[in-house]
Amino acid sequence: MSKVLRIDPVTRLEGHGKVTIHLDDDGNVESARFHVLEFRGFEKFCEGRMAADMPIITTKICGICPVSHHLAAAKACDALFGVQIPDAAKMLRELMHMGQIIHSHSLHFFYLTAPDFLIGPDSDPSVRNIAGIASTSPELAAKAIRLRQIGQNIIEKVAGRATNPVTAIPGGMSRPLSHEDRFHLLKETEEAISMAKLAISIGHDILEKYSDIFPRFGDIKTGYLGMVKNGNLELYDGDLRFISSDGEVIEEFRPESYLDYIDEHVESYSWMKFPYYKKMGWQNGIYRVAPLARLNVAESINTPLAREEHKNFKKLGGNKPVSGSLYYHYARLIELLYAVERARELLEDDEIVSTEVRVKVERKEGEGVGVIEAPRGVLIHHYWTDDTSRIRKANIIVATSHNNQAINLAVAQVAKEYIKNGNVTEGMLNRIEMAVRCYDPCLSCATHKVELSRKGGKSIKVN
Ligand code: MG
Ligand code: NI
Repeated sequence: MSKVLRIDPVTRLEGHGKVTIHLDDDGNVESARFHVLEFRGFEKFCEGRMAADMPIITTKICGICPVSHHLAAAKACDALFGVQIPDAAKMLRELMHMGQIIHSHSLHFFYLTAPDFLIGPDSDPSVRNIAGIASTSPELAAKAIRLRQIGQNIIEKVAGRATNPVTAIPGGMSRPLSHEDRFHLLKETEEAISMAKLAISIGHDILEKYSDIFPRFGDIKTGYLGMVKNGNLELYDGDLRFISSDGEVIEEFRPESYLDYIDEHVESYSWMKFPYYKKMGWQNGIYRVAPLARLNVAESINTPLAREEHKNFKKLGGNKPVSGSLYYHYARLIELLYAVERARELLEDDEIVSTEVRVKVERKEGEGVGVIEAPRGVLIHHYWTDDTSRIRKANIIVATSHNNQAINLAVAQVAKEYIKNGNVTEGMLNRIEMAVRCYDPCLSCATHKVELSRKGGKSIKVN
């Protein structure tokens, strides 16, 4: 008789999800799926609210990624009101964003990922966690905590608060950065460089130690979507580039025209939607976002240390994109290094303390799109307003949902590779969780949406 295995909840993940694995009569994997169980309905709540309040309201979508929503919302408002914000405001927003990348990527690597590799995928789950790392390598754990704290400090000084930021407003920033805070943060980013380099060297050790599993673990065929500026890695403001599974550039477009390129599929078993590249259709048009995708679509990186490391990353794929899911971890570490270098670069520029940080905005009817590369990938906020600048409609596509189907494919591939003839161990199930962890999904973000009607899948009525 066929059997269903359940991993519920998947641990070391942001939010709640479960995996189901269907086995056939012989105990081999027939199919496997990642289910998202939270339900929130945020886009509906936004209707009727003032556009200018969106950068504050949308931070409440998620306690993990408030800065990303804050910035995407502020950018959508700038577009809606038709204003160009001052250079210093742009720099401060990008700095805040780097703070979030440093915080988020270091948390994911040291707290959620490292235990699987440094303690081992088959080790006792009671020690396969950050506490296990703290007892075996206390110095490393202390550095991990410090690096994350530096990211938080940047957010706190620039965004006003460490969580639920408040300073990005339509038209710029509500306040400049003080000289005192600038020099304090500059010192901290100097300190962070050595820690980001240490993270990279740990990454190299892991790549070497697990060199037999990295290339084939969760190796799936998809396209890739990521932001670039002049072809190079960009996380705050640029164009979106879509490449095929072979690495061919299929399209490069302005983020505000995303609706021409991205559609969303719905399945009844998950509260998370499935974006895909419209021209290729559902399934063929499945793509991945976030660190692996960004480093695959980018030709180079503008900061020196990350640029050198990106060259090593590119070698892994030859002249093709790097496709194994575990390489997300390596790509995330390269971005961590980039974020630290970029934060330092921004802080070294005297313009960062300019007091000219906002322009006036006026109420109007219209629409605006704001897109940034959140730690977990392309984040899109799109608002439509009436003539009093009240939100008539909001469309939000969060980073994690772009990777939804890729997570399913990776989970199924890993389940098939490890589970055979009904033989299941805890270590095998942990490997399936590891397939999910590569993508660092944020499930509180991903379930922000009530879908009212959508072709190509079941619709769920809420009202
Ligand atoms: Mg949405
Ligand atoms: Ni989130």
